[in-house]
Amino acid sequence: MMAVALSALLSLAAPEIAIVPQPVALKRLTGTFSLEPSTQVVVDAKNADLARMLRSYLSPSTGYAFETGAKRGKNEIEFAIGEATGLGAEGYRLDVSPERIRIEAAQPAGAFYAIQTLRQLLPAANFRRAKVGGVRWTVPAVAIEDRPRFGWRGAMMDVSRHFMPKETVLKFIDLMALHKLNSLHFHLTDDQGWRIEIKRYPRLTEIGSQRDSSMAGHYSEKRYDNKPHGGFYSQDDLREIVAYASARHIQVVPEIEMPGHAQAAIAAYPELGNTGEPLRVGIDWGVYENVFNVEESTIQFLQNVLTEVLDIFPSRFIHIGGDEVPKTQWKKSSRAQARMKELGLKNEEELQSWFIKRMDQFLDTKGRRLIGWDEILEGGLAEGATVMSWRGMDGGIKAAKSGHDVVMAPTSHTYFDFYQSRLRRFEPVAIGGFTPIEKVYAFEPIPTELTASEAKHVLGAQFQLWAEYIPTPKHLEYMAFPRGAALAEVVWSPAEQRNPDDFFARLPRHLERLKVLDVNFRELDGPGPDPVGTWSPQKVTADFATHEWDVTGAMKADGDYKVLFQYTGGAHRLDIAWAELVVDGVVQDRDEHAGRTGAEDRDNEYRLALKSRKATSKIILRARIRADGGTDSRGEVYVYPAR
Ligand code: ACM
Repeated sequence: MMAVALSALLSLAAPEIAIVPQPVALKRLTGTFSLEPSTQVVVDAKNADLARMLRSYLSPSTGYAFETGAKRGKNEIEFAIGEATGLGAEGYRLDVSPERIRIEAAQPAGAFYAIQTLRQLLPAANFRRAKVGGVRWTVPAVAIEDRPRFGWRGAMMDVSRHFMPKETVLKFIDLMALHKLNSLHFHLTDDQGWRIEIKRYPRLTEIGSQRDSSMAGHYSEKRYDNKPHGGFYSQDDLREIVAYASARHIQVVPEIEMPGHAQAAIAAYPELGNTGEPLRVGIDWGVYENVFNVEESTIQFLQNVLTEVLDIFPSRFIHIGGDEVPKTQWKKSSRAQARMKELGLKNEEELQSWFIKRMDQFLDTKGRRLIGWDEILEGGLAEGATVMSWRGMDGGIKAAKSGHDVVMAPTSHTYFDFYQSRLRRFEPVAIGGFTPIEKVYAFEPIPTELTASEAKHVLGAQFQLWAEYIPTPKHLEYMAFPRGAALAEVVWSPAEQRNPDDFFARLPRHLERLKVLDVNFRELDGPGPDPVGTWSPQKVTADFATHEWDVTGAMKADGDYKVLFQYTGGAHRLDIAWAELVVDGVVQDRDEHAGRTGAEDRDNEYRLALKSRKATSKIILRARIRADGGTDSRGEVYVYPAR
């Protein structure tokens, strides 16, 4: 599948300059600027943070001090901050000549992004945290003007399903900064774990941050590891995370889930629930029916929680979840029904809406803004609410049309817990789906349904790292990158400049950087094999016919092999009657069973044994196939040793 297209792209010459995300305007000029031991930084005292940041990036690998000094017109990196650049609060101008580097920005944020670009203009070795000898630290002379397309360029980290150590969060923040992302959505509470210390309610973490077991394998297998899992961030940890992010111009948007995804909290404080029954912190993935009750005391409890949250997180936006709230318990509960009557509400959707509105009003009095998943539209959207559209773009469209701000986070393109390959058996277990990097890169956050003025309500977009199937920091990186680099370009670079060929030509250089940064990104061709062949509308017929592929290179030694027919597109699925192995003109083995591959796959893997292969043998895979109902079928054929 991708392997074919990608290897073609990778054979293009790597460009000399490979910045991700691609700047708005970049002109290569003649010559280079050399970093020297004596290279100075020129910056006014009030922007000394920028010099410190530059030093923290470039001093370890070069061993140079980058001391601050007076302007001398050569051998210097000059920051000019505060003048209008016409490039907005996050934009910058970066001029590199053989004499000097000059960074202009209206605000420090813009200069910070100029530094990120500068790092990417240097050899990848500058990303090392220890001195590297033998490298010429040169920067190509360029004139760059740059600014982001969107103000909300985000990533969501779910630390409830699997807790991640603080160091992992800090490293992730650094990676976000490298990609000019500026919004970390921190999913801190859910059924399976409460991860934020709340001083007034210590049981939230004493009880709510620990579970006895977790699902092992895929949800559908219903297996458990019977191992305790837990962890939480102290308020000091969170303040450190917020400060670290803020120094990198990243807002941390905390999410406290309500009224659903509440089981860990109810396990800690059963009075918050509807049934009075004791609960344990969730061990299954999926949606639980245990939601918060609608008593005034529960509203008060959650507002007390939010009060501590606001004290830790200065972000303007506070996420209150709002997604996947089963109404079962409210329907059954006489208390909830009485409450509905008392409040003059017609149904449970209106009750949910009332709940969210209470939080919206509360946050409004504190000068903050509520953001929630698109279910907060049900029963009427709260006045000040911003909608995070996840069930496609429709929620976002509806909200934008009614004058509300929107962040796009659709499952279709931005759920990075989805598979990165159709060859699932070669990938770590994921929730499902198929969201390869090409699809992420093709994501367009502004739906065509919106007028230009409605489109202004789309603040931006973000990718989501739901963590049911992300148990470790390494795995987090595998799911996040390089898809995160593609999303970064979607939200930063101008829509009209988006160019997949150009992106995939730059990407290998970018991956070198990630490698130096010890990021466990997924290689572009993935852990699975390359295809041995394809079928296409040109080749396949609506009646069964025999097709052949040369598999000599894929079957280098005797043994049992599997052959996989994998549909990749088209209106018609592929039916397979049998597959056989022909060695030097003689049929050696055949697997005859009906298989199919399309929207759904069934028995599309064939098992064939290779015996007595000689060095000179020519091995042919032969199969009887047809496209069901026409010829519009495309796919790839894989061969790999049976395990
Ligand atoms: C969600 O995926 N439940 C927002």
